[in-house]
This record gives sequence, structure tokens and C-alpha cells, in this order.
Amino acid sequence: MTATIIDGKELSKTKRSELAKEVEQIKAKGLLPKLVVILVGDNPASLSYIRGKQKASEEIGVGFKLENFPESFTEKELLDVIEHYNNNDEYHGILVQLPLPAHINETAVVEKISPLKDVDGFHPINIGRMMTGQETFLPCTPAGIVEMIKSVGVEMTGKNVVVVGRSNIVGKPVGQLLLNEHATVTYCHSKTKDLSAFTKEADILVAAVGRANFIKGEDIKPGAVVIDVGVNRLETGKLCGDVVFDEAKEVASYLTPVPGGVGPMTITMLAHNTVQSAKQFLS
Ligand code: GUN
Repeated sequence: MTATIIDGKELSKTKRSELAKEVEQIKAKGLLPKLVVILVGDNPASLSYIRGKQKASEEIGVGFKLENFPESFTEKELLDVIEHYNNNDEYHGILVQLPLPAHINETAVVEKISPLKDVDGFHPINIGRMMTGQETFLPCTPAGIVEMIKSVGVEMTGKNVVVVGRSNIVGKPVGQLLLNEHATVTYCHSKTKDLSAFTKEADILVAAVGRANFIKGEDIKPGAVVIDVGVNRLETGKLCGDVVFDEAKEVASYLTPVPGGVGPMTITMLAHNTVQSAKQFLS
């Protein structure tokens, strides 16, 4: 079997052009949707992600502002900046780029962002709403993964989903979203015994471990849908996923590439959340 590649760039292009039309309609009503991204320090990976977010915002006509503070910025100063944007209704989305420097409490920061402007979907109120299946801001990577699966017409109801990885940003919420789609979900992680016994049973396998080439062809059920969330840089400088792409391609029915798979869709879902957020502010 040779897997069909789920092209996150192509799907993003389609979704972004739909979003651009929505932005035009919002602008016609006198509102400019706007996103502020707050970065403390100058982590190169964060700066690269932020460039992607800026490019997507510009592509669809959403206003974008980067607030970049020095590494020495205090937690109190950061909380005050968030408070300012919570109260400034020219901005509809607030995103604090993670990770934060060690002296800043990430939980306090995430909880400070108004749930109404939490376009990352990280605030506990929005996570609770997601868990109870209410309409809310969904975390971008998990929401992008569900869109990618839907885009190829794969039914999720009753499927065995195995999520490898249990991060708050990807693993836990993607399992929840797939459960909301009526899949049977199993979480695996670094303490799981006999991991491949689980992955081999997965109709849909989500690899979100952050270890290069961790999932091999032999770990995959023939015909499975394989979603590779990993972004790992090899010593050669080349980017690669958590899945051995060339092996998975021979076993899976559908497979997402790295780069060009989940990454672009994550950014597109952020743009989606920002546009949806702006709509709340239309009178
Ligand atoms: N750092 C890595 N991924 C993300 C993300 O999705 N949102 C934020 N805020 N920071 C990140």
C-alpha cells in the first residue's frame, strides 16, 4: 500500500481563502479582526513559529502585532500587559508564546488571558468547555488534526484511536476531540508498557512524542491513518517527524508529512479562532 499524503499546505490554502472572505465581511461591518502575540525572550524556534502566524494573519487580512519583551521581563509585568489587552477591544485574540522563561509561572499567565480572547484554547474554562463538547476556542494543533482527518472523508465514529504523547497542548486535547467525534481513544506515553502492541491496533494513530523517527513502519496497522505531529530537527539541520515517513508510507492509508502537514494547519486554526473571536465583538 502507498499512503495518500494529507497535504496540510494545500488544505490550509483552501481554509485561508475561506477565512479571507469572512474577514472581508467582518471589515464591511466596520471591525478589523486583530491578534496580538506576546513573546518574552528571543527563542529562535518561537520566533520562527511567530513568523508563520504573522504571515497567515497577513494572508487573510487579520491585523497582527508582536509584543516582544526581554528575557528579564517579570511575571507581574507580563500579567499587566495581558490585562491591558484583555481590556483593549481593538484586539480580539491574545496569544502568549510558550515556553516562557523559567521565572514566569505559565499557569498564572494562561489563566490571566480572557477566555473570550484565548485563541490558543489553553484557558481552563475553554478546556472545560471542550471536554463537555460545548462550542469554544479549540486548541489549534488538535483542531487542525481533526480538520485534516475530515478533509479526506475518514469516518472517526467507532475507530480505534491511539494517541502517543500526553502534553496539555497536543496529546490530551487531541484525544478529547477525537472522543467527541465518537472514536475509542487510548493514550500512550513514556511509561506505557509494550507501546507497539497498542499502536498496531490503531485505525488512527497520532504521534505527538517529540522524538525523531520514533514510530516505525512495523508499529503501524496496515491501512491506518497516521498523523505525525513531531517537529524534530536532525543534526543535519533537516526537519523530521516522530514517524519514519518512508516506512509509514508503505503501510498507512493516509499520512501527514513533516514539514507541510500538521504545522501549517495549526497556524490556520489560529487564524480561524481569531476570526471567530472577532465576530463576538460585532454589535
Ligand atoms: N509553543 C509551541 N506551540 C505553541 C502554541 O500552540 N501556542 C503557544 N502559545 N505557544 C506555543
